[in-house]
Amino acid sequence: MIRRRVIIDCDPGLDDAINLFLAFASPEALEIVGITTVAGNVPVALTERNARMVRELANREDVPVFGGCERPLRRPPVYADHVHGASGVDGMTAFEPRAARDDAHAVDWLVETLRAANAGEITLVATGPLTNLAAAFARAPDVLPKIAEVVLMGGARREGGNITPTAEFNMFADPHAAAAVFACGRPIVAIGLDATHQATATPERLAPLRAISGPVAEAALGMLEFANTVEFKRRGAVGAPVHDPCTVAYLLAPRLFATKPCCIQVETEAALTLGCTSVDYWGATGNAPNAVWVDEVDADALFALIAERISRL
Ligand code: BDR
Ligand code: CA
Repeated sequence: MIRRRVIIDCDPGLDDAINLFLAFASPEALEIVGITTVAGNVPVALTERNARMVRELANREDVPVFGGCERPLRRPPVYADHVHGASGVDGMTAFEPRAARDDAHAVDWLVETLRAANAGEITLVATGPLTNLAAAFARAPDVLPKIAEVVLMGGARREGGNITPTAEFNMFADPHAAAAVFACGRPIVAIGLDATHQATATPERLAPLRAISGPVAEAALGMLEFANTVEFKRRGAVGAPVHDPCTVAYLLAPRLFATKPCCIQVETEAALTLGCTSVDYWGATGNAPNAVWVDEVDADALFALIAERISRL
């Protein structure tokens, strides 16, 4: 397996936190150059603190964490604490991490790090609103050739929206940033609700995780159970969708996912469809594909992978 150099841009977030555990537990496949956080599920001060908590639990303080944009490019912030809890990672016991926050701004660090990289060297994994990435690309378009691929969680085609009837949360929270990233010209893998709504944390899928002891498994299970409780209260459904771990899992085991190249664009103007992803699945526009759309995941295998990796931490 090729060892990739990755930067993970995220807004932890219950499922972002599980995704970080998956990445931290996979050093043979991923060299995590750094983690950048953004305002999304909760304000950026919390997403940054939460990333440091997860890092400490995983015993990976060798990986730097940087806080980034406090608000979307052009719109007021939209949060999802009604899903992730007031801390952003309810279900695990929050604590003040022993390593203090880094003063560098995520966008400055992204620009500097990408500039210092070789062409096609860095894979960007994005599991929150795309504000940090879009800000870095706008400030320093010269960094784009350094990016091998952007693997992001966001968007929806068949499934409709989860924050509005037509938009998925990460796209809706910063539609202008999302539109800019889809137009950046680098290879993009977009994993939207069509796939992630298949990845539900059912009791059967959580059983292997339940059998693991230790603080990481306990935190992961606590967060997934919190997500399940919220999902049941809001929708009466058993098993919350676990979106963000599909991104790192895609890098670790692409065979678990079904994909199709498509042209994807993001609505930035219309009130009713703000943040809606236009996924040209059937080639109606004649536009060349700018991304690979993921629309199926082997959910049982995904949860088996999550449990196996968490057992390493
Ligand atoms: C996305 O929105 C957030 O609430 C989750 O962390 C995930 O990244 C799913 O729509
Ligand atoms: Ca997220």
